[in-house]
Amino acid sequence: MSSRLWDMTDRIRLSALVTGASRGIGHAIARRLAPTHNLILVARDASRLEGVAADCRALGANVHTLGVDLADGAAVASALAGLDVDVLVNNAGVAHLKPFLETTPEDWHHQVDVNVNALYYVIHSVLPGMVSRGKGHVCIIGSTAGRNTFVGGTCYVGTKHFVMGFAESLMLEVRDAGVGVSVVTPGSVATELFPAGTNTSWMLEPDDVANAVHFAVTTPPQVLVHRLEVRPLTPKRPRRDA
Ligand SMILES: NC(=O)c1ccc[n+]([C@@H]2O[C@H](COP(=O)([O-])OP(=O)(O)OC[C@H]3O[C@@H](n4cnc5c(N)ncnc54)[C@H](OP(=O)(O)O)[C@@H]3O)[C@@H](O)[C@H]2O)c1
Repeated sequence: MSSRLWDMTDRIRLSALVTGASRGIGHAIARRLAPTHNLILVARDASRLEGVAADCRALGANVHTLGVDLADGAAVASALAGLDVDVLVNNAGVAHLKPFLETTPEDWHHQVDVNVNALYYVIHSVLPGMVSRGKGHVCIIGSTAGRNTFVGGTCYVGTKHFVMGFAESLMLEVRDAGVGVSVVTPGSVATELFPAGTNTSWMLEPDDVANAVHFAVTTPPQVLVHRLEVRPLTPKRPRRDA
């Protein structure tokens, strides 16, 4: 499938749009898809996005970067209007983990804007093309926080619970049109989502999540893996007998 961003000679490759691609899990997803997909990479930090784009070009992808604040619905609609992609990975997300009574209105709205409202803006821009072509795949990065709870997680956990209900409802709406919707729900992953100094040694690596995304979006056409939960298998503390 093609995008208005590249020419006919490139139509042999699939295409994917990855949000939150400037670092962390999004960077790993972009790299994982690069050997087989042309890429549109979206985030705010243009210089980091260019670094990711260079990695992906070295793996064979034709890459375009879009520096867009996903919390700005009008900016998203204008940047993504008319884009045709085979795969959309909604990965961008933010977390302000703190007790509810310490959560500021800015913390609250930031998480709801990026983790929830941006899903509307991005998917509303890209899904019509998939439905009209009768194929495509939307993969959303949720979290185990989408079915668990923890102290300090009121808003973040709430947004990730939203993702689970949203994704399953959307899947039921569009599967008869040939469009798949998956949600990949990682446990803890070693990224900049955690404050500097956090012990991330036991966590998943971003590449582990990227492999799960790749699996979900490359199943045979008659198969949809809707939910995929990925957990670390490394003990948090050294074992007594280690
Ligand atoms: N790390 C974990 O333990 C973990 C576990 C489960 C689920 N997740 C989920 O995985 C996803 C990726 O998280 P991560 O761990 O890779 O975090 P990260 O390293 O902080 O990366 C977040 C990405 O989102 C982008 N982003 C944030 N706000 C944005 C905005 N307003 N507009 C555009 N892009 C924006 C960032 O780019 P810019 O700053 O350049 O805009 C960055 O590329 C999130 O949805 C997160 O909830 C993470």
